[in-house]
Amino acid sequence: MKKYFIVGNWKMNMAYREAVKLVKDIDSMTKPLDSNLEVVLCTPYIHIPVLVETLSHSAVRIGAQNCNENKSGAFTGEVSAEMIKSYDCDYVILGHSERREYFNESNELINKKILIALENNLKVILCIGESLDERQNDETNKVLNTQLRFCLSNIPKEEYENIIIAYEPIWAIGTGLTASNEQINETHNAIRNYLIEIMGGKGISVPILYGGSLNDKNASDILKIKEVYGGLIGGASLKSESFVNIIKTAEGYTNI
Ligand code: PGA
Repeated sequence: MKKYFIVGNWKMNMAYREAVKLVKDIDSMTKPLDSNLEVVLCTPYIHIPVLVETLSHSAVRIGAQNCNENKSGAFTGEVSAEMIKSYDCDYVILGHSERREYFNESNELINKKILIALENNLKVILCIGESLDERQNDETNKVLNTQLRFCLSNIPKEEYENIIIAYEPIWAIGTGLTASNEQINETHNAIRNYLIEIMGGKGISVPILYGGSLNDKNASDILKIKEVYGGLIGGASLKSESFVNIIKTAEGYTNI
């Protein structure tokens, strides 16, 4: 039986009232949640306390979109993994392509963030993905393999079960373009093989999610691909109806 992860990545969207309304709507529309389905909302830090309060009796989980690589100290404007965990958050997205591009995050830096997040008992959703140029130059597999090897280096074996990979082709993020089912299938198979090379047998069970213009129209085709264990969803996670439709689609596949 397949366990699915449907993860909303709100990015830098939603002011206070909109955030509360959205989370209440999602929660009420998804009760009860199938036990083979993990729904996670990764929101701006500032919304985490109100989400924790609103979802205190819910199965919907909460995550952050980043954390600092240091334990604590004089890093104005930053938020540590320990702080995130102390608010009862379970997840953190690391290595998103927007952070790689706009905040110059390297694989080495992302690796440090992953290590400190795991030390603080957060589950890590590690994003990897190729640019359009890289895909057109046939470099996709090389890029993904490099990202995985660097980002996952020195991770204690017992932490492998706290890693989730999100494959997000950069050219598909927020563009309305999705990778074709064939591309997703091929790329997820390649990622699975790299994970097995890096982690040995434990690489077989690491969930691999797809992200990049996933919505309630294409979810039924994408989520049924063999190595797709859910989605990381940006735009379509900002409206309760589309996000809940994606959740329901995944729910329909959990018992297959
Ligand atoms: P999108 O974003 O669904 O809006 O393409 C996905 C992501 O960046 O995680």
